[in-house]
Amino acid sequence: NYLGFDLGTSSLKVLIIGEDQAPIATASVPLTVERPDFGWSEQDPASWIAACQTAMGMLKASHAEALARVEGIGLSGHMHGATLVGPDDRVLRPCILWNDTRSHEEAHELDDAQSRAITGNIVFPGFTAPKLLWVQRHEPEIFAKIRRVLLPKDFLRLWLTGEAVSEMSDAAGTAWLDTGAREWSPEMLARTGLTLDHMPLLVEGTEVSGTLRPDLAAEWGLGLGIVVAGGGGDNAASACGVGIVRPGSGFLSLGTSGVLFTTAASYAPRPETAVHTFCHALPNTWHQMGVTLSAAGSLEWLSKLLRETPGELTQALGTDVQAPGRLLFLPYLSGERTPHNDAAIRGVFAGLEADTDRPDMTRTVLEGVAFSMRDCLVAGGGTVDRLVAVGAGSRSAYWLELMATVLDCEIVLPAAGDFGAALGAARLGLCAATGADPLEIMSEPPIARAFAPRRDLAAAVDEAYGRYRALYPALRHA
Ligand code: XUL
Repeated sequence: NYLGFDLGTSSLKVLIIGEDQAPIATASVPLTVERPDFGWSEQDPASWIAACQTAMGMLKASHAEALARVEGIGLSGHMHGATLVGPDDRVLRPCILWNDTRSHEEAHELDDAQSRAITGNIVFPGFTAPKLLWVQRHEPEIFAKIRRVLLPKDFLRLWLTGEAVSEMSDAAGTAWLDTGAREWSPEMLARTGLTLDHMPLLVEGTEVSGTLRPDLAAEWGLGLGIVVAGGGGDNAASACGVGIVRPGSGFLSLGTSGVLFTTAASYAPRPETAVHTFCHALPNTWHQMGVTLSAAGSLEWLSKLLRETPGELTQALGTDVQAPGRLLFLPYLSGERTPHNDAAIRGVFAGLEADTDRPDMTRTVLEGVAFSMRDCLVAGGGTVDRLVAVGAGSRSAYWLELMATVLDCEIVLPAAGDFGAALGAARLGLCAATGADPLEIMSEPPIARAFAPRRDLAAAVDEAYGRYRALYPALRHA
């Protein structure tokens, strides 16, 4: 059997799969995000370890035999977070997360011809490097103590194995990686006051990064010497989970953030469009993605406000996708990445009327996120035939048919549920433990439903998308 750990923003999931990759059991423990200041978003790394202990305790209680047969582990996690570790490997401050925008000035400063040539990307405020420049300037006493900087799942790995190791897909989101060469860039590190010594070793996602600590293995009832694979950032790991590993294939993730991800035939960056070009979790493979920071996160926001669950809100819409009305929503609750790269912008409802009701607001939130995904598609260079849908938002058939219509492509929903990143992590664990060919292991899941674009709505959708596009420039100056 194999274990996949997925450290998500809102929960940590552990999945056990069998030799045949079928899911055996899963445990999930919620996590919180702290927002102590405007644009800040932090998480306590101790909560990841506690969640891991709780999830493994749950699995031990229910599936001890399956755990005893585990041969490999893979890790996935939310990307870009800065986990700062001191001389004794203790955490120096809360992890600054991917959707934290405090370092937008530092990002702007680091983003130039040199950084784009080396990393293949804009330096976004959410990326790791500008966060370190911010810490250097605002918390110099902490900066001085830094022994290592680790990405969230790599901190979990340090605890699981004792090894400081990262892998290419997550490392590509730091702005410290030479993405084409797949190695740390001493030049980019130097620009944030760091050296190679502060960085973990790099392996490929399919390679071995270490073995599970014997004391944890004993506590959880696992064997000795269990291999931990490099794993992947959550998007690359999700791609492995849904079999998006061949050039031209793509997926749409509707998690807290929204991601439009395509596997690329080669390293072909387009930083000017704000599309991200990162290493995939498989050797010698890259991918592109556009990111909207609040996707299912926008629906969660509305759900909290209206005191109904996201499922209740979307069910109230029925199944028949409607043409967009006058109301517009810009989903910039945590700022914006692709295509505007604007950390300061915030969301808006425009066109509220005296009789605007809950379903209107829900529909408009779903539309706003769909338009923002269309922005990502346009930034990536244009068209895609088919996207596999993953993430919490993919539970809404209404949203998926709307997405198919707005993106003008087929959207398919896997039958197996939403194990995306945890399954991808477990598959990477399998590859590292057995040396199996990743292209054979990372098959596409069986498809439960396919959603085709609603051609009858195309004109209305294009018209509303035009109004949506016009709103950002107006809002920026408001
Ligand atoms: C990707 C990104 C998000 C996080 C969320 O660039 O910031 O998708 O990985 O988990």
